[in-house]
Amino acid sequence: MTTAMFDIDAVRAQFPALALRHDEHPRTYLDNPAGTQVPQRVVDRMTEALVEFNANMHGNFNTSVQATELVRQAHLAVGDFVNARSDREIVFGPNMTTLTFMMARALAPRFQPGDEIITTHMEHEGNNTPWRTMAAERGLVVRTVPFHLDTYELDLDALGSMINERTRFAAINYASNLLGTINPVQEITRRLHEVGALVYLDAVQYAPHGVIDVQAIDCDFLVASTYKFYGPHQGVLWGREELLQSLPTYKLRVVPDVTPDRFETGCQSLEGQAGTIGALEYIQWLGRTAGVDLRPTGEGLRERTKDLHAGMRAMVAYEEILSERLIAGLESIPGVHIHGITDRAAFARRVPTVSFTAPGLVPAEMARFLDSRGVYVWNGHSYALPVVEFLGIADAGGVVRIGPTHYNTVAEIDLAVSLVAEFLGR
Ligand SMILES: Cc1ncc(COP(=O)(O)O)c(C=O)c1O
Repeated sequence: MTTAMFDIDAVRAQFPALALRHDEHPRTYLDNPAGTQVPQRVVDRMTEALVEFNANMHGNFNTSVQATELVRQAHLAVGDFVNARSDREIVFGPNMTTLTFMMARALAPRFQPGDEIITTHMEHEGNNTPWRTMAAERGLVVRTVPFHLDTYELDLDALGSMINERTRFAAINYASNLLGTINPVQEITRRLHEVGALVYLDAVQYAPHGVIDVQAIDCDFLVASTYKFYGPHQGVLWGREELLQSLPTYKLRVVPDVTPDRFETGCQSLEGQAGTIGALEYIQWLGRTAGVDLRPTGEGLRERTKDLHAGMRAMVAYEEILSERLIAGLESIPGVHIHGITDRAAFARRVPTVSFTAPGLVPAEMARFLDSRGVYVWNGHSYALPVVEFLGIADAGGVVRIGPTHYNTVAEIDLAVSLVAEFLGR
């Protein structure tokens, strides 16, 4: 793809926040790995829900009937986004972390003292602490897969040596929110299933940057956060229906004992689910415009899934241009050390999130300098504590993280790179 093939102006016009200013500067959002801006469609969907049918579900009156239907539609839409078999496999929650703590509590009774679970040094805390807490409470052994410090990819040989007949469960990152590495989750799942272990994938960082197909991966659970892919603050979990139905839950007597209701206790965020529909409608729109040539043609996918995949593929193709530009720009600055894949031949195995350090650099100071020019980036560990600990930079202030997404421009990348160079050149 070339930048000319992707109508970036049409894309940007969808996002009202992109037109805002920061003093005399345009705002440049490169904080996207932490959360993206939302298209007008999301604002409209949320407003509609709050104004037209702001009611709880399952009542026998107009607004409640509409609210109930909206919630059903939200589950269907997310089901199509991840290619679930059924909307009963989709559980909404406030965010990934809360859903993961809930699943750790539900899964814990399946495991016996001495059973082994696997996780990696590439995790965000949200896919780390819930499982380590479960392991400590149940007397489980935790094995942690390292990543290679030269390629920033998981050490699959080490993973292989950790899998044995006692391995019961694995919590694995789909894409790292600090390194940007995309892990071979299909291959990892296949190996873990050989010994009957359950596989829980954290797709929070991957979801904004790639096509998700839970049936192709064949994992057991996958979790994501819609505020990372152009929606409002919500978490979504996909799980195999038979597993979701069989796990113990902590629910009120009045809640039906069927999935997903048995996990969605209490009143859910109607407006959050409405906004989630809006975000997926936006991705569908992108699929039907920028992604027409990228639409999957084969049988077996629902029509909306094909549109969503086309939208995601269009984003990925454009983002690769931004990644290349950003990495080449940072590499040209003396002293900058990128913690992530820089080999062009391996770019398909990274999302555009780029983290770096430099000798003497205080990441927070650089972030404040960029902010003074209207450029928003994150510094520190971004909750990927296992990663900065493994890299040995936790006490040095972590990294500066520049995270483009498909609504950023090449000019914005160039601006960020020039400011990094200016700051380091002082
Ligand atoms: C890879 C990854 N996992 C999990 C999370 C936690 O997501 P949430 O804020 O929805 O709990 C994040 C948030 O940054 C993340 O990047």
